[in-house]
Amino acid sequence: MLPAVRGGPGPRKRSAVFYNPAMAADRDLAVAFVGALARVRPAPRTGWEMLAATGARGLRLVEETGAFGAFVLTEANPEAFRVLSANARGRPGVTVHASDARSAVPGGPFDYVDLDPYGTPVPFVRTALDAVATGGVLGVTATDMMVLAGAQPAACERRYGAHPVRGRLGPEGGLRILLAFLARSADERGRSVRPLFAYVRGHHVRAYLELRDGHGIAPVGAIVPETWSGPPLGGGAPVGPLWLGPLFDAELVAALEVPRTAARPREVATFLERVRAESTVDVPFYYEPNTLARATGVLRPPALASLIEVLAARGYRAGRTHARPEGFRTDADRTVVAEVVRALGRG
Ligand SMILES: C[S@@+](CC[C@H](N)C(=O)[O-])C[C@H]1O[C@@H](n2cnc3c(N)ncnc32)[C@H](O)[C@@H]1O
Repeated sequence: MLPAVRGGPGPRKRSAVFYNPAMAADRDLAVAFVGALARVRPAPRTGWEMLAATGARGLRLVEETGAFGAFVLTEANPEAFRVLSANARGRPGVTVHASDARSAVPGGPFDYVDLDPYGTPVPFVRTALDAVATGGVLGVTATDMMVLAGAQPAACERRYGAHPVRGRLGPEGGLRILLAFLARSADERGRSVRPLFAYVRGHHVRAYLELRDGHGIAPVGAIVPETWSGPPLGGGAPVGPLWLGPLFDAELVAALEVPRTAARPREVATFLERVRAESTVDVPFYYEPNTLARATGVLRPPALASLIEVLAARGYRAGRTHARPEGFRTDADRTVVAEVVRALGRG
C-alpha cells in the first residue's frame, strides 16, 4: 500500500498516468467548496464523480468533508478503474462502476455531480445536467484553453457556439463562454443554472453551479465593442455569447475555508483571500495598471493599491481579482478608470 496523499487520507494508490499532481490545489478547492456548502445550506448527501480516474478527487470529497452518505465513481479506462477499485475498497457508502459516463447514469438524481475531463466537458454536459437533483450542484472543469481562450476561434465556434475573447482577458472569456454554454444547455432541458464559485486557474477553468428546474432569465449575451464600457477586449468584433452575471455567491464564498487536510494550504489560502474580496466587485473582466498606462500615455503604471483606493474614494467598487495577480475589477466606466490613471500619473 502506498502512503496516503498529502491532503488527507485520500486514495491509497496513485497511478503515474491518471493522477495529476498539478490539480492538487484544485482538489483542495473542491473539498473547501463542499465544506462551505455544508455550512450555508443542507449538505449534499449523494454524489457522482463521472470521470473519476483513480478517485483522487471524489474519494477526497467523501473522506475529507464527511458530507456524503452515498457516492458513486465511474471510470471507463480499465487500468485507471483497477486503481480506483483498490482505492475505494472498504470505504462505506462508496461504489465504483467501470462504465461510460455519457450513457450509463448510475442512479440519481444526485445532490452533487462532478465532471472533470481531460479537455472539454461538452460531450458529458447533457448527462451531467440531467443527473443533478433540483437545488443540487454541478462541479465542472474545462482544460481546452486553446479553444476557450481564443487561440482557436473556429473550434470555439464549433464546440461552444461562441466567438472567444483573445489576448490577456481570453481565459476569463473562456470561463464565461463555458458558463454561457452550460446555461443554454440547461435551458434546453428546462432547467437553469447559477454559478456559486467559478474561476480561472492556471491552464483550466472550473465552475460550481446550482441547478434549478424551470427556465430562468440567464444573464447571457454578446459583448459588442461599440457599446461596451468595461475593460477593452481587443479586436473589433463582438464576442460571446458570454455569461455576464456574477461568478460568485458571496455568502458561499465567505464560508470557504482552507481544508485542514489541504495539499497546498498556502496557495489555497491566497486564492481564497483574493476570491472573497473579489466577490464584492463581481463584474465582468478586469484592468491591469501596465495596459492602462500604455493606453493613456502615462509613463509609470500607477500602483494597484492606489488605483483601487482612488476609485473607492470616488464611490466605485474596486478590488483585486483571482484571475491575475496585478489585475483589478471595478464597476467604474472605462473613461473614469482612464481619468484616475492620468490623475495618478500627474500626482
Ligand atoms: C482528468 S481525468 C479525471 C481526474 C480526476 N477527476 C482527478 O481529480 O484525479 C479524466 C478521466 O476520465 C476518464 N474517461 C474519459 N472518458 C470517459 C467516459 N466516457 N466515461 C468514463 N470515464 C471516462 C479517463 O480515463 C480519465 O481517467
